Amino acid sequence: MSKSDNDRLIIFDTTLRDGEQSPGASMTKEEKIRIAKALEKMRVDVIEAGFPIASPGDFEAVKAVANVVKDSTVCGLARALDKDIERAGEALKGANSGRIHTFIATSPIHMQEKLRMQPDQVVEQAIKSVRLAGKFTDNIEFSPEDAGRSETDFLCRIIEAVIDAGATTINIPDTVGYNLPHRFGSLVGELIERIPNSDKAIFSVHCHNDLGMAVANSLSAVMQGARQVECTINGLGERAGNAALEEIVMAVRTRQDMFECDVGLDTTQIMTCSRLVSGITGFPVQPNKAIVGANAFAHESGIHQDGVLKSRETYEIMRAQDVGLTANKIVLGKHSGRNAFKTRLHDLGIEFSSEEELNNAFSRFKELADKKHEIFDEDLQALVSETNLCDICEKFKLVSLKVCSETGETPNATVTISDDGAETQGVSEGGGPVDAALKAIESIVSSNADLQLYSVNNITSGTDSQGEVTIRLSKEGRIVNGLGADTDIVIASARAYLNALNKIYSATPKAHPQLGDV
Ligand code: KIV
Ligand code: ZN
Repeated sequence: MSKSDNDRLIIFDTTLRDGEQSPGASMTKEEKIRIAKALEKMRVDVIEAGFPIASPGDFEAVKAVANVVKDSTVCGLARALDKDIERAGEALKGANSGRIHTFIATSPIHMQEKLRMQPDQVVEQAIKSVRLAGKFTDNIEFSPEDAGRSETDFLCRIIEAVIDAGATTINIPDTVGYNLPHRFGSLVGELIERIPNSDKAIFSVHCHNDLGMAVANSLSAVMQGARQVECTINGLGERAGNAALEEIVMAVRTRQDMFECDVGLDTTQIMTCSRLVSGITGFPVQPNKAIVGANAFAHESGIHQDGVLKSRETYEIMRAQDVGLTANKIVLGKHSGRNAFKTRLHDLGIEFSSEEELNNAFSRFKELADKKHEIFDEDLQALVSETNLCDICEKFKLVSLKVCSETGETPNATVTISDDGAETQGVSEGGGPVDAALKAIESIVSSNADLQLYSVNNITSGTDSQGEVTIRLSKEGRIVNGLGADTDIVIASARAYLNALNKIYSATPKAHPQLGDV
């Protein structure tokens, strides 16, 4: 295949669907819309917005994304079941370009143990589902789930049948992240080679990162002819996550000498998307993460710094600006007005859906600008993530917090929170000021939720930086992440705790696509 025949690599982002399957990463409709708009601005080709049958909330979210996104294709996931496909078709009605992605497991272990179906029945079900999807759209993707552990002959059989039935994209998932790059690439190459009608569909890959191979496996398949990669921002996703979009895209861009295809993305939007997703989900990005980690473009050693100053290419293979990383710039200050605030957020891909939301975020900005004179993009992103653009509809809000911490004394905290408008005060001692503050909140709310994670990161540098706190709570099988940011980390912690509690008390359970019946 020459580059000119087949030179476009389709980027299919599944942050809003597989990414959302990470424990605690559940997103609201408004959050999904914000991320979808940022992905569209980055010129992602396909956005998988959710699994419409999972819950009424997920249906509404897919529908809303389908209605607002105009330039990217919007996709909804459906098991190979009539009810799933009809629901996905309904959710995608308003899309400029909509895709139904239907799947059924094809590995011996999944067919026998999970589906309890014979291979012939699985093929029949797949054909029937693709045909039904064709009543709603001619853009149909089919995935043989657990293809990475399926028999190649059986894959050839089912894929040929679904292409005949109308599937236009064939996605090969390494569902459990079991494959190694050489073998996975050659599997995809063999399928394209052997399946007689393979030229009628685009071959795609969807790799999980259980052995840390998701990106390598995906790229190996691209070298063997795959022309769509399914990936997520920051590598978010089920268990160890999916292939990271930013790594796939920058590898293909940076190593054009090795790939026969290129991506159509505006890579300068990568950092904005990464921060947005991290802020909304509460999954921090590790500092040494490729492309988007805080240290990805930092040169610590003197020899490296000296080399980079003489010639950037001595130690840098990519330009920081190409992924949208600019040196920390003061963007706003205490005298900035509403318009400047709104315009800067617009440039960061953040829009407000009502005046009330804007006012709410703007008053938080003013409070912050009083405490911290230099406001950076990162501060704005944290502020909006934490405010969640729907602070106004939250059950619990922090009204006031007083903590006493002194050498030789037990720290204590007095907190007042508003619970649906009614103010209540709680007092507690603790091992430290944060512990005392969270115990004081718990003395009012009595959630009995289990604290699974507490972490603090500085948003920018300097001792006046805001601390961003992530708190993960689990209650009755539901896991949520709460975020809070403030120049005072005790206040940030209290906000993060309340943010998590608000999610616990409002989240509705969702069905999981890969569990359950067919
Ligand atoms: O990992 C997987 O197999 C999936 C499918 C639904 C494509 O997420
Ligand atoms: Zn997956």
